[in-house]
Amino acid sequence: MIKTFLLRGLLVIVSALSLLLNPFPAEAFSFAGQTLGGKPETYQERSLHHPDGIGKFYMGREIAQVMGHQGAAWLERSSRGIEEQPAAAIAALDLKPTSIVADIGAGTGYFSFRISPNVPQGKVLAVDVQPEMIDILKFLKTENQADNVEPILGSVTDPNLPDNTVDLALMVDAYHEFEYPKEMMTGIFAALKPGGQVVLLEYRGENPLIPIKGLHKMSQKQVKKEMQAVGLVWQETKDLLPQQHIMFFQKPVAA
Ligand SMILES: C[S@@+](CC[C@H](N)C(=O)[O-])C[C@H]1O[C@@H](n2cnc3c(N)ncnc32)[C@H](O)[C@@H]1O
Repeated sequence: MIKTFLLRGLLVIVSALSLLLNPFPAEAFSFAGQTLGGKPETYQERSLHHPDGIGKFYMGREIAQVMGHQGAAWLERSSRGIEEQPAAAIAALDLKPTSIVADIGAGTGYFSFRISPNVPQGKVLAVDVQPEMIDILKFLKTENQADNVEPILGSVTDPNLPDNTVDLALMVDAYHEFEYPKEMMTGIFAALKPGGQVVLLEYRGENPLIPIKGLHKMSQKQVKKEMQAVGLVWQETKDLLPQQHIMFFQKPVAA
């Protein structure tokens, strides 16, 4: 009797602790978003969700809230050079002077304007969904005299890029907040030339010590699953940055 009582008490404590550590486990809601036929929907909406998320889940991951244009100055913070080492990240991309690069979720163009001198005969297509970010990109294009940077207003479902034109599509700290990741990646896949690459820079989700909100980090396992879903093939991960993965994927030549 006392033994059973103690065991039950222990179970309650363990369950409470696991809820505290991970209050919104995806598996707990795996029944949500299923059609009557049992075929899973692409996205699941859940009212019980993380406060940093939008309550919409894709392949077991909750989509993060978009960083508003009010945070533009934070993207240009002086400490970013040390934290993210953009020069090393750009060197790892192995760009050619003629490369056509799409910087998707470009924000203020922190990466677009640093890539621009590396592709003097090419282009940087700087795509964002916030018109205020496009205004900042246009202002900085003139300020930096970066004629080869082209700001492009996309929509949440479409990067608004012509088919088969892009050598490398880069997403820095952006993919995890796409509201329609499947549609965006399908559009990006179509925009890539055969053999073109997708590169994701995301804070390492595997490392709980990286001081970034959970939904704003991604694990390699999750990224690979989501890229594979649109036909991209993982090539390599370069872990040379202090806190982020640089993950390379390719559109098959015969696609
Ligand atoms: C955290 S900011 C990162 C900006 C930039 N990549 C950088 O590293 O400085 C994410 C950006 O992605 C943009 N974004 C979110 N969803 C998008 C989508 N579906 N298509 C294009 N841009 C998107 C947001 O508007 C925001 O400017």
